[in-house]
Amino acid sequence: MEKVIIFDTTLRDGEQSPGASMNAAEKLRLATQLEKLGVDVLEAGFPVASEGDFNAVSQIARKMKRMRVAGLARAGKDDIDRAWGAVKHAKFSRIHTFIATSDIHLEYKLKMSREEVLKAATEAVSYAKTLTDDVEFSAEDGSRSDRDFLCKVFEAAISAGATTVNLPDTVGYAIPGEFADLVNYIRGHTPNIDQAVLSVHCHNDLGLATANTLAAISAGARQAEVTINGIGERAGNTSLEEVVMALNTRPNFLPFETGINTALIHPSSRLVTMITGMIVQPNKAIVGANAFAHEAGIHQDGMLKNPMTYEIMKPETIGLNRSELVLGKHSGRHALRERLSVLGYELADDELNVVFKAFKDLADKKKHVVDDDLEAIVAEGILRTSDVFKLEYLHIVSGTTVMPMASVRLSINGRSVKGAGYGNGPIDAAYNTIAKLTDTESELLRFTVSALTGGTDAQGEVTVRLKENGLIALGKGSDPDIINASAKAYINGLNRLEYLKTNPVKRAI
Ligand code: KIV
Ligand code: ZN
Repeated sequence: MEKVIIFDTTLRDGEQSPGASMNAAEKLRLATQLEKLGVDVLEAGFPVASEGDFNAVSQIARKMKRMRVAGLARAGKDDIDRAWGAVKHAKFSRIHTFIATSDIHLEYKLKMSREEVLKAATEAVSYAKTLTDDVEFSAEDGSRSDRDFLCKVFEAAISAGATTVNLPDTVGYAIPGEFADLVNYIRGHTPNIDQAVLSVHCHNDLGLATANTLAAISAGARQAEVTINGIGERAGNTSLEEVVMALNTRPNFLPFETGINTALIHPSSRLVTMITGMIVQPNKAIVGANAFAHEAGIHQDGMLKNPMTYEIMKPETIGLNRSELVLGKHSGRHALRERLSVLGYELADDELNVVFKAFKDLADKKKHVVDDDLEAIVAEGILRTSDVFKLEYLHIVSGTTVMPMASVRLSINGRSVKGAGYGNGPIDAAYNTIAKLTDTESELLRFTVSALTGGTDAQGEVTVRLKENGLIALGKGSDPDIINASAKAYINGLNRLEYLKTNPVKRAI
């Protein structure tokens, strides 16, 4: 079977989802997981955007052993130099440069003529080619561009040295038949197209990103640009898991293979949720909580007789082999390490110590510690290392006859501060006090609480969405006590806002 190259842009386009910013340590951990997953090319960031993005991309570039690391750059020398500066230490590197080709972008955004865009694209690729052999060129808003002009730009980019040319459906406007036809047109009207890999990059504004990507692959595209859980600008990007599992499940119609180890799809999806705080909708294909749940009696009956009656994929294929009762309070370090490894977390000894302690604390409070609990512990203990604010203790007085009051001690950059405050309820009291101690003025846009598992001893999981000075961040926290979980989520959100203040996510487009 012919191979489709999987180009993952969770760390770049995915990070452009409002609130989904990640710090360098989180990006490095995710990149490590994506390499294990079998991604071929990782777009690690947009290095010119900020010092933080540059550093994250260069750390990732130095660490990856097999996966190619790409840095995004607009079609200009400064952007390209910055992208190269960040990826040059990678074992396998790529510069990905782009410029818009649609008339509407030329007229209103770039204020450039077609000739000027053609020249800029050619010069950008030629310059990038002096730095590295592997250069990708993208024609932003390609799906709404004049077809012949698009082919002309691709032809020039390939002549200048582009090894991949990418057709983005930047605004998620295309429909599958039309998009496949465009791919065919490009293949038929770009004389040197066989000297480059033809790639597609779809957005999901009409819910058609996966369908368009698959149609394009059938028509001859051989690189798919995707993100885990389909996160990305607006309605998101094509989801990696949907494309890979469609190819995997329907080989008769889609005879293509990828290098993805499908058994790591579910752990990778969970890791992205844990890191970004972006919850996957329960009915999301492949990785949603209900994707393999069969409620209706008639379905359950059929499933018991033969799972293939209602299940087109086995949950184990995507690594969904979650055991109900995982570990108890007598479980040892070794068992914990084993289970974490099944969940996709390979921890260093010192990290394991942190998780083991939190696990024992939880096992004292809760009889059954399940996978979701372990993931929450890892998210809080390991994935959030460079926090400015840390909760040291929280004491709440609340009830029907008292004014709710919170006493809080925080560590701020290692220095302990404490204070107390009142509120309408215990969470309000805790949030007011934390805001005062941290000297922050964020607005709470959203607050959701859910139980990680069933049972009254379940951990509560709280997600908050905070806004401060135009910056938006998500925060997540879990704890058997939902007031503690709420405080942890709020502090996590504040830490993300702190990070964003010095490392704003600058949109590439
Ligand atoms: O959607 C888009 O056009 C992009 C390009 C930078 C490839 O993200
Ligand atoms: Zn995009």
